[in-house]
Amino acid sequence: MDLVEIKDFRKSYRLGIEHGMKTVEAVKSISLSVPEGALYGFIGPNGAGKTTTIKTLMGLLRPTSGTVKLMGRDPLDPASRVQVGFQPEQPYFYDYLTGMELLMFYGRLSGLRGQELSKRIEESCALCKVDASWLSRRLRTYSKGMSQRLGLAQSVLHKPKLLILDEPMSGLDPMGRRDVRLAMLELHKAGTTIFYSSHVLSDVEEVCTHAAMVVRGTLRVEGLLSDILNDPADPDHRQKLEDILAREVELA
Ligand SMILES: Nc1ncnc2c1ncn2[C@@H]1O[C@H](COP(=O)(O)OP(=O)(O)OP(=O)(O)O)[C@@H](O)[C@H]1O
Ligand SMILES: [Mg+2]
Repeated sequence: MDLVEIKDFRKSYRLGIEHGMKTVEAVKSISLSVPEGALYGFIGPNGAGKTTTIKTLMGLLRPTSGTVKLMGRDPLDPASRVQVGFQPEQPYFYDYLTGMELLMFYGRLSGLRGQELSKRIEESCALCKVDASWLSRRLRTYSKGMSQRLGLAQSVLHKPKLLILDEPMSGLDPMGRRDVRLAMLELHKAGTTIFYSSHVLSDVEEVCTHAAMVVRGTLRVEGLLSDILNDPADPDHRQKLEDILAREVELA
């Protein structure tokens, strides 16, 4: 089963009256599907439409046209999200909460209680390399990397079947990137399907089974990573993908 199905998805934003009510075409045409068991990289440069697509998947925006399905359902249906974990690009955590309070809050929201909640907090923090000593600190004292790791731990507390991460590695140092990559691989090995966005082809290349590349709201390639990366007839294929990311060329 495909846990994410996106078909002919388009999204335009209406700018305010101060901009003459102009529209911005954020996503012009995206179709992709994320099969169960995939580790799926959603690659594109700044402004490509990745966050717009992910927000639509999470029911935070509505498509202008096309269909978007999460776990086989309309994202507006709360049942679509029960088995989904989500880490947004810019989480707005209440920064007067401590790390522990935040994890307790999100854990309870997903129905975890008592011993089970404590156990899942411990396991998720170990997986995401959240140091136990951070948990008594208020979030406003966290560095970017600490917040990213806590956000990731939050997203896996309830053992979601599908994990959606909007740039889980942004703002992390090389160690942090490696830790997030290892956490994703471990989750994937344990059976979690993962859909995550990134700017960097090499990040996706190392770990993913599937990928899609989107530039200026338009899908360029999609499918199994091995099919996307290799073109036996073209030794420069890999470089061309990099150039597409740098918005320099189009694929023939
Ligand atoms: N609320 C909004 N109102 C108007 N335009 C928007 C809005 N949100 C996004 N956009 C525009 O939509 C386009 C796609 O933005 P989006 O945030 O989806 O890209 P992205 O691929 O996530 O980029 P990044 O890598 O920088 O996070 C951009 O041109 C952006 O300016
Ligand atoms: Mg984004």
